[in-house]
This record gives sequence, C-alpha cells and structure tokens, in this order.
Amino acid sequence: MVSVAVVGATGVVGETILRVLEERRVPVERVGKFASRARNGVEAASADALREFDVVFFAGGEDASETYAPALLERGAVVIDNSSTFRMRDDVPLVIPEVNANVVRGDHRLFPVANCTAIILCTALAPVRDTAGLRCVRVATYQAASGAGRAGLDELIAGERAAVSGEAEPEPKTFPARLARNVIPQVGRFEASGYCGEEEKVRDETRKMLGLPALLVSATTVRVPVRTAHSEAVWFETERDTSVEELAAAFDRAPGVVFHSEGIVTPRDVEGRDAVHVARVRREDETSKRHFVLWCAGDQLRKGAATNGVQILELLLARGFLQS
Ligand SMILES: NC(=O)c1ccc[n+]([C@@H]2O[C@H](COP(=O)([O-])OP(=O)(O)OC[C@H]3O[C@@H](n4cnc5c(N)ncnc54)[C@H](OP(=O)(O)O)[C@@H]3O)[C@@H](O)[C@H]2O)c1
Repeated sequence: MVSVAVVGATGVVGETILRVLEERRVPVERVGKFASRARNGVEAASADALREFDVVFFAGGEDASETYAPALLERGAVVIDNSSTFRMRDDVPLVIPEVNANVVRGDHRLFPVANCTAIILCTALAPVRDTAGLRCVRVATYQAASGAGRAGLDELIAGERAAVSGEAEPEPKTFPARLARNVIPQVGRFEASGYCGEEEKVRDETRKMLGLPALLVSATTVRVPVRTAHSEAVWFETERDTSVEELAAAFDRAPGVVFHSEGIVTPRDVEGRDAVHVARVRREDETSKRHFVLWCAGDQLRKGAATNGVQILELLLARGFLQS
C-alpha cells in the first residue's frame, strides 16, 4: 500500500481530498496532513517531512508546489498538484480520467489537476466531441465563492451577514468587488488579451484536455454569491450534423455525467456530489444541426479538484503504475 501526504490539509480543497480518500476507500497505508504551519493533527510542510511519502497531493497554492514538487519528483514520488504551476507543460499530462485517461503513461510522475471550471466543462463536452466532433465553444460561468479558497468563502459569508444585519459590509479583499448580492465579471487578473486569468486557463486547458489544440474557446468567467459548485452556460458548434436526441443519448452513456433530460439543475443540487450534471440541452435555433446550448454544474471542490485528483491516484493504482 502507498503512503499519501496532503499539503494544504486545512484548506477547502485539502480537506475535501482527505474526505474523498476516505469515502472512496482508497487503499492507502497512511495519510500525512500538512499546511503552512503546525496545529492539531497537521504538520508544517517541509522537504524532509514530505520525502517520506509515495504520493503527495498539493492543495496549497503555487508556492508550495513550486517549492517542494521538483525534489519529490526527482526521487520518484508521484505528485498530484491542484495549482496551475505545471498544467501547460508539454511533457506533463492534464488528466480527467473519464475524458483522456489514454494520455497517462507508466513513467509519468507529475499530474496537475486542471482548473476546476475547465474540468467541469470538459467532462460535459467530451461526449459531444466523441459523438459529433467539436469546432467551437463559448461559455459563460457562474462560479462559487469557495473557488477562491477559504478566504473567498469567508468573505461571502461576512458580506451576507452584514447585508442581513444592516452593519457596514467589509471591504472586499479576495474578490475585486463585494460579492454578497452581486455578480463579478472578473476571476483572476486581466491579461493583455482583455480576458482575465481564469478565462485564459479555461481556453488553454480545455484545448489540452480535449486534445483539440485549435478549438475556438471563448469564456466569460463570473463570480456569483454561491458558496460551492460552479455552473456554466455553454454554446457549442459541432464538426458534423447531430441532434438533441443523439447528444442526449451520449450524455446518458457518459461516465462522470448525470444527464437531466428535463428541468434544471442548480449548484445547491450538486454540492457534495462527484458527477458533472448536464441539463437544458437544446438547439441554438429551430434549424440548427451543428449549433447547440447546454447548462452544466459541478462541485468544483470535488470533481473540479479533490475527486479528480483522487481518481488519478486510483487510475495509477489500477494500472499498477504505483509501487510503495
Ligand atoms: N477552491 C477551489 O475550488 C479550487 C479548485 C481547483 C483548484 N484549486 C487550487 O487548489 C489549491 C488550494 O486551494 P484552496 O481553495 O483549498 O485554498 P485555501 O482554502 O486557501 O487553502 C490553502 C491551503 O494551503 C496551505 N498553504 C498555503 N501556503 C502553503 C505553503 N507554502 N506550504 C504549505 N501549505 C501551504 C494553507 O495552510 P494554512 O492553513 O497553514 O495557511 C491551506 O491549508 C490552490 O492552488 C487553488 O488554486 C482550488
């Protein structure tokens, strides 16, 4: 059995990784919990302490991965990293087990977990790619506060409380504007392109994970006052003619997808669940055979981060790519 460390164990992703490892009964020999400093049951991360583990999950921001991952990889450990540090490196796979498990090789040791919004999008779009090809994707997102970590969640809750009690609302620190009773059309810093960081990640990582480097992807990413789970409205063009019925059958069959043929699905419905939920599949207009629209939602702490990382570990174990 392998030993596993979680760096960032006190954060919203790290604590979800610990929960998912237990829920899915992943056969691990021991689990070490690390954060930036020690407190009850959690150790301070250090190169020496992490060296003892076969698999190290990073859920601690870019700094922790950059600091510790290179030496761990050097000595043959497996690194499953939730930060964006290594995602776009050509020699590194970016894996959603239901979508592109075929890219994993026995000698890979570094597995970045992709951007949460991109994972939810690609899980929803893989059945479309496989049924009718994909030419173009436009997406507007509705992203939860906990996507910005515990600080983001706390900032929303403090703003909501102040709004209800009539007290002065705290100044925004994590978000570029107050999030309670608001929506914010900016996630991450603005880039020279006019897109913000999250929008560029969604574009680049979607192309990489779907294996479609020339796919046109344009995203508008929006923070909304939801605690957990991201939702996305997606307009897409296929390569070949298809129909709502054919796409519905593909969503029904797709691993990791729950398809709703009728009605809606909301972030509160999917919070705490592992699948990506797809609903409201329809033609863009009554004559469309290549232009469609859908709504999808997924818990970004689970499928968008922790669950996807744990599934990568399960895949390595199942293929015999991991020895203690
Ligand atoms: N939140 C999401 O929905 C989401 C989704 C996908 C990916 N991610 C990525 O996952 C990572 C964790 O995000 P989060 O949202 O869970 O953040 P978070 O709630 O702010 O938690 C951050 C965790 O990292 C620890 N940490 C920070 N710097 C560290 C260092 N230098 N060494 C060791 N531990 C350190 C913190 O420890 P202390 O408590 O000691 O400060 C805390 O446990 C980030 O890279 C984020 O981009 C997040």
